[in-house]
Order: sequence, then C-alpha cells, then structure tokens
Amino acid sequence: MEPRATARSIAVIGAGYVGLVSAVGFAAMGHRVELVETDPGRLAALRRGEVPFTEAGVQDALTAGLRASTIAVLEHASETTAGVVLVCVGTPIDDRGHADTDAVEQVVAELADRAPAPVIVVRSTLPVGTCERLLREGAIGDPSRFFLVPEFLRQGAALEDFRHPTRVVIGGAPDADPAARAVLEELFGAFGARLLSVTLEESELIKNGANAFLALKISFANEIAGLAERAGADAGPVLEGIGLDPRIGRSMLNPSFGFGGSCLPKELATIAISGRERGLDMHVTSAAAEANQAHQRQFAERIAGMLDGVAGRRIALLGLAFKAGTDDIRSSPAVALARWLIEHHAILEAHDPAAGPRAARALPGLIVTSTAEEALDGAEAAIIATEWPDYRDLDWAAAREVMSATVVIDGRRLLDPARMRTLGYTYTRVGSPSGEVARAGR
Ligand code: UGA
Repeated sequence: MEPRATARSIAVIGAGYVGLVSAVGFAAMGHRVELVETDPGRLAALRRGEVPFTEAGVQDALTAGLRASTIAVLEHASETTAGVVLVCVGTPIDDRGHADTDAVEQVVAELADRAPAPVIVVRSTLPVGTCERLLREGAIGDPSRFFLVPEFLRQGAALEDFRHPTRVVIGGAPDADPAARAVLEELFGAFGARLLSVTLEESELIKNGANAFLALKISFANEIAGLAERAGADAGPVLEGIGLDPRIGRSMLNPSFGFGGSCLPKELATIAISGRERGLDMHVTSAAAEANQAHQRQFAERIAGMLDGVAGRRIALLGLAFKAGTDDIRSSPAVALARWLIEHHAILEAHDPAAGPRAARALPGLIVTSTAEEALDGAEAAIIATEWPDYRDLDWAAAREVMSATVVIDGRRLLDPARMRTLGYTYTRVGSPSGEVARAGR
C-alpha cells in the first residue's frame, strides 16, 4: 500500500535520480506529476518511456505512470501549472569546490512570474547561506512560499528511501505562509516519518552536515582498516565490534579503498568553503576528504606492491561505478584507479554491469569489455573495485582456468577469502593483512 495524501498536482524540475525518483514515487501515490527535463538526450529518453540511468525499480514505475497518464513530460519549468514545484536540478562543484547553484537560480527565476505563485520546494543540495542570498537578491517571487526540503536518497536504493524516509526536514523563511507549510506537511507527512520544521539555513546545514558525517564515518572506517592491515588484524570484526555500540552504529563502516559519488565528496568540499567564508577552519571534514584521497593512493600502491609494479601487467578491473546499483561514475574511486593504472602503463581491461559506456567516454584509452569473463581472460590479476553482486556470483573456478596468474585484490571485501584461497587464488582485500604482513606482525 502506498502512503495516502490528498491527490495534488506536483511539478518536478529535473529528471536526475532525485527528480525522477520523486516524480515516479509521487505519481504512484496518486498525485499528478509534471516532470520537466531540459537536457535533450534525457528528455528524448523520457518521451520514449525510458529511464536514462540505472536505478532499481524506476523503469517499472515510470512505465506505470506514463501508461496511467499520472506523469506528463515537459521541457520548460514555465510550462508547469502545478501548485507545488519540486526543484531537483543539479548543483555540481567546480574545480575549486564551489557548488554551482546556477541551475536552481534559473528555475526559480523562471517560476518567479507564475501567478498564482506556486509553493516552491528546493530539493537540490545547497551550501548553507544560499537561500538567504537568493532572498536578499530578490530572486524568489514569493519568499513566503519558498521552502527547502532536502532529500536523503541513496543511489541504488533511491525509490526505497523515497518511500521510507528516515525523517522529513522542512526549511522555510520565518514569515513562511502557514497554508503553504501545511500543504508540505501533508504531502511529505504521508510517509509517516518524523517531521522537522526548521529555518532555511538549518535545513541547508542538516543536509550538508548529514552527508559530511557519513563521509567522515567511511573515512574513519577506512583508516582503521588500513591500521588493521598493518597490525595483523581483520577490519571486519574490528569494525563490527566498534559499530555495535549504538552510539556509533554499524552502518557506513564497511571498509573500501575510498568513497565517491556526486554527494559525499562534494559535501566535504562545500562545508570546508562554507567554514572558510566565515573565518572557520573545518578541521574534521577537511581531514576526511584528505584521508579519502590517501586511502585511494594507498590501495593503488598496495596493488603495485603485490604485483611488483603494474607496468606491462595485464590487469582486469571489475567495477567502474562509484557503488553498486548505479551507472554513475562521478568521483568514482574505481575510475580514478583505472586512470592511475593506465598512467602507470598497466595493460588494463575493465568491466562494469552498468557504467561501462559512461566510463569509456570519460576515460579515453580505457578498454571496457562486455563481460567480466572477457576482462579476466589472460589477466595476471583481478581487482574488485565496485561491490556488484555479479562479481561475488561469478564462476571464479572457471575464471582461474582463463587467467594467466591468480592474484585477486578486493577493494570492497566482496568475496569470501576462504573460498578464493581454496580455489587456488592469492587473495587480498582491504582491511585484511596481506600474508607477509600478517607473518611479520606475529
Ligand atoms: C549519499 C547519502 O548516503 C544519502 O543519504 C544522500 O541523500 C545522498 O548522498 C545525496 O546527497 O544525494 P550516495 O551518494 O548515493 O548517498 O551513496 P552512499 O551510499 O552514501 O555511498 C557513498 C560512497 O561511499 C560510495 O562510493 C560507497 O561505495 C561508499 N561507502 C559507503 C563505503 O565505502 N563504505 C560504506 O560503509 C558505505
């Protein structure tokens, strides 16, 4: 059963994973949705009824919404008529770490003249202070009908997270229209999650802070994992033992060789700048970002150490997406590793069940195979870079027959070490000591 609320007309601007998931999610709840996408490629895909990226469950939900005519696809925000407009456009960071809020500002400007003024709900991630600046600059048509409701969706599980939010944060101006706020409380209250009513600055900072905290939790796990490797301990039980304290919690403590995506690395950069602009050094978040770079370097060096250099080595890289369940390669540690291996003259063949074409476009010279088996054929070593279940379920016994040597280096702790060793592999993973380090430590 989908949560129930008064059926409304909702416009969603931007069909990225936040916008499209919100569109199909609200349509499935019985609302009428106007979905706006300006990118010609994405627009054409949506008009053909196709989801332009990989995200579980979204294709079926889009097909259902289009078939039931609960979703209409439009090209311009100004064409919308809905009373509530969700702004879900991207806010990517530039080379210096500044979030580019132009797309949000453009949409808000396009909506400024609509009469009667819609309730505008920004769902894009904004650095703290952005809304205050927009209000100061007079960019918002009716400030009392302007809200920031941050999203907390994880790629790969976005539809699930949409249906079961951990909390709903509604940020508004002090003089926010109570009727507009009530509409949002009803719309988002239908999920049954705790509602927090806060100011615009507070809601910006809740989003910035939540993502930054998740990022530093992972960096911490990866740092402890690095220490475990060198101390002859296994990071699995170590982090489980740490995470079982409910004040700490077990989630986001799975060691990897680094985190990526369009959100966590960006948030660390954004927070550092927000602090600097206000005369504050953000020590902890800056350290988490530096640690993330260091962990990726350490993994590359570990690979080089195990293979006695990567130059001329035939390596199969399994995984290119920044995490499983998506074809997104933004700030992907797997793609950064591929780049490093190519620069260090490895003979690299890479595979990913979803992100192959994107990675090949982003990294000229990268050979992407259509199956994992092809990449493994003739390889001296395999590296697991993304935790796709496909690689866990791969026929590793058969792979052993076609690989020219049997080194497997697991950057995601995906495979079962005992099974891999029984199959005859020299298997190493992040957070566990390599054989020689374990012996030296005893
Ligand atoms: C993140 C947050 O988790 C969401 O709550 C937030 O809504 C979203 O950003 C956003 O701002 O839109 P997402 O980027 O989809 O979601 O990915 P995560 O699941 O947080 O993973 C981020 C990276 O950390 C991935 O590279 C993942 O593989 C890595 N990771 C995650 C680890 O290395 N270890 C872990 O224990 C968890």
